[in-house]
This record gives sequence, C-alpha cells and structure tokens, in this order.
Amino acid sequence: MPEQGAAEAAAGGLVSEQRPHAPEIEIERAAGVGPPSPGEAPAQEEVLVLDFGGQYSQLIARRIRECGVYAELLPSTVPIEEIRARAPRALVLSGGPASVYEPGAPEFPTELLELGIPMLGICYGMQAMVLALGGRVEAAEAGEFGRTELALRGDGGRLLGGLPSEQSCWMSHRDTVFEPPQGFTALASSPGSPVAACEDPERGLYGIQFHPEVVHTPYGTEILTRFLRDVAECREQWSPASVIEERIASIREQVGEGKVICGLSGGVDSSVAALLVHRAVGERLTCVFVDHGLMRMNEAEQVVEAFSGFGIPLVHVQAEERFLDRLAGVEEPERKRMIIGEEFIRVFEEEAAKLEDVGFLVQGTLYSDVIESGGGAGAETIKSHHNVGGLPDDFDFELVEPLRLLFKDEVRAVGAELGLPDRMVWRQPFPGPGLAIRVVGGEVTRERLDILRSADAILQEEVRAAGLYRELWQSFCVLPVVRSVGVQGDGRTYAYPIVIRAVTSDDAMTADWARLPYDLLERVSNRIINEIREVNRVALDISSKPPATIEWE
Ligand code: XMP
Repeated sequence: MPEQGAAEAAAGGLVSEQRPHAPEIEIERAAGVGPPSPGEAPAQEEVLVLDFGGQYSQLIARRIRECGVYAELLPSTVPIEEIRARAPRALVLSGGPASVYEPGAPEFPTELLELGIPMLGICYGMQAMVLALGGRVEAAEAGEFGRTELALRGDGGRLLGGLPSEQSCWMSHRDTVFEPPQGFTALASSPGSPVAACEDPERGLYGIQFHPEVVHTPYGTEILTRFLRDVAECREQWSPASVIEERIASIREQVGEGKVICGLSGGVDSSVAALLVHRAVGERLTCVFVDHGLMRMNEAEQVVEAFSGFGIPLVHVQAEERFLDRLAGVEEPERKRMIIGEEFIRVFEEEAAKLEDVGFLVQGTLYSDVIESGGGAGAETIKSHHNVGGLPDDFDFELVEPLRLLFKDEVRAVGAELGLPDRMVWRQPFPGPGLAIRVVGGEVTRERLDILRSADAILQEEVRAAGLYRELWQSFCVLPVVRSVGVQGDGRTYAYPIVIRAVTSDDAMTADWARLPYDLLERVSNRIINEIREVNRVALDISSKPPATIEWE
C-alpha cells in the first residue's frame, strides 16, 4: 500500500484499520492474495520461519533475508511433508501471544526433529520446544517486557560465545524457562529468565528467550548470523536483485505470448511490478495511468517521463475534469473515497476495453499482503485491509504478481536495480484518493487543490533540502476548509490555514509526530504564507496514532 498512489498504501502493507479506502488500491493489491504456491520460491537455500502468531514474525523473515539468506513464513501448523518437500536449511520458530499452558496453545511438533535440520526457537518458539523436550517452563513472578539485561553463563556456547558477557536485549514474555531439556546447556540468564538462551549443538537445537530481530537487541543480527552461517551453514546468496532474472523467467512462463495490462499509481510497487513485467514481455505490456488530478505537484509528469524513458507503452488518461465533476458538492470523506474509487475503475475499464486481447493484469501485491491475508496464518492481529470494493467480478484477467515474495524494502532495492529514478523508489506513501482526502471538511475544488498542492510542494522541497525525506514515513499538508483572520501589509486578510503533518512510523499502524527542527518549520511556514496568497496561517499537527490517524480524513 501505501506509496502509493493507491498502490503503496495498499501494496506496501500500509493499512489503516479504521477506514475503508478507495478501491483504486485494489488494482494493486486485493485479488488473488494467498500463500505462495509451491515451487514459487526461488531455487536457492532457504530458511523457513514457523509462525506461532508473534507480532515480530514477519520481521524475523526480513532480518534473515538481510543476512543474505532467503526466508519465508509458514504457519506453525504446516504439515511436515510440506516442509520436507522444500528442504529448508533450517527452521526458526517464532514468538507468539499464547502461554504454553493455555488450552489449545500451539505445540512444538516433535516430528520436526525427524528432519534433522537446525532449529532456533525464539521466545514462545523456545518455550514450546523446551517444554516438548522435557525441560521446565513456568510462569515467572513477573514478566519481562522491553529492554532487559542479559548475562552470559559459562562461555556462551556456540550461539553466544565471544559476545560481551553483559549485554542488553529486548524481551516480551511472561512464561519462562527454568530448566533446559536434557542434552541442552543454558547459555545466558536475565533478571526474569533463569534460562534466557540454551543450545544442544549435537541435535542442532537452539533457543533464545529474547528477540534478536528487533533493533533494541544490539547483538541480534550477530546471533542470527551465527545460527544461519555457522550452525545451518547457509551461504549468503540472497539479495533482492538476485531474484530479478528468476522473476522475469517466471513471468514469461506464465504469460507466454499473451498481452498484459498494468495500472500505474506512481507509487513504487506498481512501478517496479510494471518494470519487471516489461523486462519479461516487452511491448506486450501496456501501462494505464489514470491521472485523477489529485496527485502532488509534477507527479503525473514524473510518471509519464519515467515510463516513456523506459520505452514502456503508456496510456496516460487525463481525467481530472471527470473526477472533479463527480466530486463537486461532496463533503463527506467516505463519499469522496467511494466516488474516486468507482470513477477510477470506470476509467480503467474503458481503457482496458480499448486494448485488444489482454489476458493478464499486473498487481503489485507484496509479501506482507500475502502473509496478512493468510499466508502466515496464526498471527494474533489479522489486519483488515483497504480491500473494500476492488475490481469488478467480470474483470476477466489472470493476475501477474511479480512482487509476491518481496518485502517493501526489497521492492525498493529491485526498483533501484532496474533503474527506477530515486524519487520514485523512495516515494513516501500516498493515499489512493490523493489530495482529495486532505481538503478537509469541505468540497474538493480545483482552487483548493491548487493551494494545497503548492503548500505541499514547499513542504516537500524543504524537507528534502533538510535531508529528512527518507526518515519520515509521510510528510504532507492538509487544507481545512475554514478561514481565519490575519494581517498582511496594512490590510486584514481572511484566508485558509495550512496544517503540516509529518510522522514517523514502521507500518502506518501506529505513528508518532515527527519532531521537525524549528528552523525548518519556520522556513516552511514563511514560504507557504509568503508564496500562497490564499493562506495566512500555518499550524503543526502534534498528534500520534492512535488516537489520531495519519490522514485527517
Ligand atoms: P491513516 O490515516 O488511517 O492512514 O492513519 C494509514 C495509511 O494509509 C494511507 N491511507 C490511504 N491509502 N487510500 C489509500 O490508498 C486511502 O483512502 C487511504 N487513507 C489513508 C495513509 O496515507 C497512511 O499511509
């Protein structure tokens, strides 16, 4: 999702639990999301992460990939035959929200031992493994949540040997391991965990109570690397770029001599998906860019320029008039979203109908969408997506989803490798309905859009000049449709305010307001008021999500 033109917010997993979003997104994300099909995974060494429902399970897979080893998430209940068929180098058992003693809590499937491959249990994964193999796990008097001091016991063993004897780590648990199973050695402890790490190198079994995947565990990556490289003997073969050729081959195989259509939003997901498909099938791909007139300054031109630079056939539908006509008089936010979504689909359908014999539709579905839609079953919070509406049922296309195995940051890396301009690779999420949901509490008119677009352009320019663009999840302006009094020159003014909204976030589920430097805020405020006649006041939104949301509407 979210880069989105429509797409990123959508495809990147930027999802909002509160509000349905315009179906425009759906072009990029909704349909066909499900677990990767067998054989879809790249032919190389892989590690499987068995998901016990932990909130960091996806992050474990991402971190393993960052160590250069391909990783995928599977539900902890996956049949052993499926694991055997994939012949992974190792298994990682994730954390999870349950207590091992809760009725129905997922158990460590002891048959996994038959596979004879190394296993690393993290948090719940460790407790489940220890319990199943005869160790002692009990509820401690107090749980450990957050930063915790870890002390090595003995030499730290194979997993922790040579690391500092005292280090901090990130914990999140109530049950704890008091005694490891027979054959295991305890490697470390913390105030609330007598056995915070243990191993049985003979059998290749390892367990850690803390979370190596979060940044608050400074030696986390080192510990993962030891498990992957020294224990599982994985080679560093994986990189996002390494999948390009393989993806291209699989697109060719799927599409054959067929014709393909792709809806571009201007965001990174749809752009990268389109570039990959173009590499695979050349001019048999046509991209359709529905320009609803609700984009930021010069964005539409950037899309057209980038894609014509690649020589990709592009239908640029300039539909601003149409969208504004339908938005006339509409103030209610959800109605705006609905109208934009409907109109988008209508325009897209019209254009698709003009192309003959198109059999395939490209979608920028990401791996996080796949997981959240069931590919990683077991997670406690199943996010509700923006996937209301979507493509009409009679859209008779087969989906091509070249990014299904990639995380958002990997998509950016592939985009950069394919030559997508930096500006597009690093574009902040942008909602499908665009600036229409940032003209708040009133009708969306061209005049208001122009004011908002100019203010937004100033903010973006200054944020980039300050080197902060990539650090912010999103930075944008909002135009509340109210007027207030000001004084300029010798006269009173009665003009609009502009609100600056800048947030940091990892996934848009929660966000904090960004502490922008005062001198940057001053420059932005001065420029907006001086350069835009219709604005006489600039305000800063200092609300976090929750309880606020990122967007105002
Ligand atoms: P909120 O405002 O709910 O937004 O905190 C979370 C993320 O979703 C984006 N967003 C949208 N994306 N269509 C989209 O494609 C929409 O209607 C929409 N509304 C919000 C928002 O920009 C943020 O990244």
